[in-house]
Amino acid sequence: MATKTLALIIFTLVHLCFPLAKSVEFNFPAVFNFGDSNSDTGGLVSSGIETINPPYGQSYFKIPSGRYSDGRLIVDFLMDAMDLPFLNSYLDSIGAPSFRKGCNFAAAGSTVLPATATSVSPFSFGLQVSQFGRFKAKTLELLAKGRKFSKYIPTEDVFSKGLYMFDIGQNDVAGAFYSKTFDQIIASIPTILLEFENGIKYLYDQGARNFWIHNTGPLGCLTQNVLKFGTDPSKLDEQGCVSAHNQAAKLFNLQLHALSKKLQGQYSDTNFTYVDIFSIKSNLIANYSKYGFEQPIMACCGYGGPPLNYDFRISCGQTKILNGTSVTAKGCTDSTDYISWDGIHYTEAANQFVSSQILTGKYSDPPFSDKMPFVLKLKF
Ligand SMILES: *[C@@H]1O[C@H](CO)[C@@H](O)[C@H](O)[C@H]1NC(C)=O
Ligand SMILES: *[C@@H]1O[C@H](CO)[C@@H](O)[C@H](O)[C@H]1NC(C)=O
Ligand SMILES: *[C@@H]1O[C@H](CO)[C@@H](O)[C@H](O)[C@H]1NC(C)=O
Repeated sequence: MATKTLALIIFTLVHLCFPLAKSVEFNFPAVFNFGDSNSDTGGLVSSGIETINPPYGQSYFKIPSGRYSDGRLIVDFLMDAMDLPFLNSYLDSIGAPSFRKGCNFAAAGSTVLPATATSVSPFSFGLQVSQFGRFKAKTLELLAKGRKFSKYIPTEDVFSKGLYMFDIGQNDVAGAFYSKTFDQIIASIPTILLEFENGIKYLYDQGARNFWIHNTGPLGCLTQNVLKFGTDPSKLDEQGCVSAHNQAAKLFNLQLHALSKKLQGQYSDTNFTYVDIFSIKSNLIANYSKYGFEQPIMACCGYGGPPLNYDFRISCGQTKILNGTSVTAKGCTDSTDYISWDGIHYTEAANQFVSSQILTGKYSDPPFSDKMPFVLKLKF
């Protein structure tokens, strides 16, 4: 724990010594987020489609909290860095959720492309974007009634001044490997990104001006994909990740980056920031021990033990009868030693590392430098 904090602080300080010239200030009055489980703060669970059991949430919230991790997600750390509260999900209906500082439309399992009958989540990108449309219309309707709801809803200016964040595409790319060839997957990327572009354009027409796009991670390093697609060692790279998945993710990201540049060129009154999550996560997995981690691929919470501790029949927190014996997919002793929480999602410790790297600004295009040394805000 202490060594990890020290490693992270030293690493971060080194990068702080090289401030970047051109910068977007990381300071917004509200955030509207769209995505999948990487940034779902309770959407899919609130919809009733899925439940999450302990030990999810154990490291921070002490309850599962609707997040697919043992604690905070990247979006939580970024909200913290902006001094904003954690985002409520659009689908939260209990406990008087406040959307004054933004709203989260992300739901686990969501794809950019429209959902099909077999999709985990019906809340694909187009639907999340139309939920935003409804959110904005309803907000304006309530604002017209006076100040009665001011605790719960944003002011009108927030729709143009707020930050629109995106972290979606992982399920489109990784999911396709179950039914398509590599070439078919690569050929489908422009179709996925056209759908993404249509959503962005809709948001622009609704007044959005600040866009913040996370690219997709090294999908071939996810425990689940290593187990399913990496049984033949020739399919793995030197990090032990499935090469084809990482290659597809890279090609997706190249086109996503180009789209971000194209939209920035098309709309001169906007700020598009493209964030290279792939490089941050690849660096973490390749150099895990330097950053204080012990397990780059094996899941902390799962069943089966080393080398992967992952079993498709039983997911983290579940108890099932396998071979006539009742077994539970349990959490590891210290999740801060692991990058993978449940074989698909990152641990809070890994999410904190990724967030600290995002906040250096050096993985963004255009780059930015946060005026506040965020290193002071680390809460290990
Ligand atoms: C966004 O870009 C505009 C120019 O298009 C600039 O004036 C503004 O300061 C930028 N906003 C932020 C938050 O960086
Ligand atoms: C791992 O760290 C080395 C040394 O800092 C760096 O050159 C390399 O690019 C890193 N690996 C990845 C995949 O980022
Ligand atoms: C179940 O039993 C079979 C046959 O005895 C064995 O090969 C297999 O490894 C067992 N699976 C588990 C999960 O224990």
